[in-house]
Amino acid sequence: MSDSLRPLISAARIRKRVAELARQISDDHQGAKLTLVIVLKGATVFAADLMRQIGIPFVIDFVRASSYGKAARSSGTVVLGDAARLDIAGHHVIVVEDIVDTGLTITALAAALKKLEPASLDVCALLHKRVTAAPPVAIRYKGFDIPDEFVVGYGMDYAERYRNLPGVYRLTPGEGG
Ligand code: IMP
Ligand code: MG
Repeated sequence: MSDSLRPLISAARIRKRVAELARQISDDHQGAKLTLVIVLKGATVFAADLMRQIGIPFVIDFVRASSYGKAARSSGTVVLGDAARLDIAGHHVIVVEDIVDTGLTITALAAALKKLEPASLDVCALLHKRVTAAPPVAIRYKGFDIPDEFVVGYGMDYAERYRNLPGVYRLTPGEGG
């Protein structure tokens, strides 16, 4: 059986919301030394659209972070890439993430980045999954709240598939992959 995909957020709604987030980020960071730290790989599509709507100067960098494993549920173990090499001391940093689920990834990443002494550290996430058991995470720039279901598209994958879909879809995996 093949995977089942049901539309959740259309490409048009995403486009509109991304423009609003970019305007907010631009307004809040006039004259500031702004760095976008983009979380690989899922946030790349979102970040590419977001940065083209930001009207003030900024620099970008990338960091790898993943909840270990290929399951459709966070494993509880967060593996960070080489966050320590980022040159962000004194910068106003916005971490750009595709989705905050349990919050483990963003919490671990924020802790690692804070050691590098940025002037400020905020989170921009396209999606926030409502997981009742999860501790609250501060997301200054948030695209959409979504229900606690596995989603793909707009950069997000299931075993590396579906990143190229223009909108966000709920996925029910088929049997046998
Ligand atoms: P957290 O650590 O539980 O907050 O999970 C966040 C990370 O898990 C994100 O960076 C995503 O890469 C991945 N993730 C969580 N939920 C989904 C989903 O529904 N689809 C695709 N990836 C997800
Ligand atoms: Mg991710």
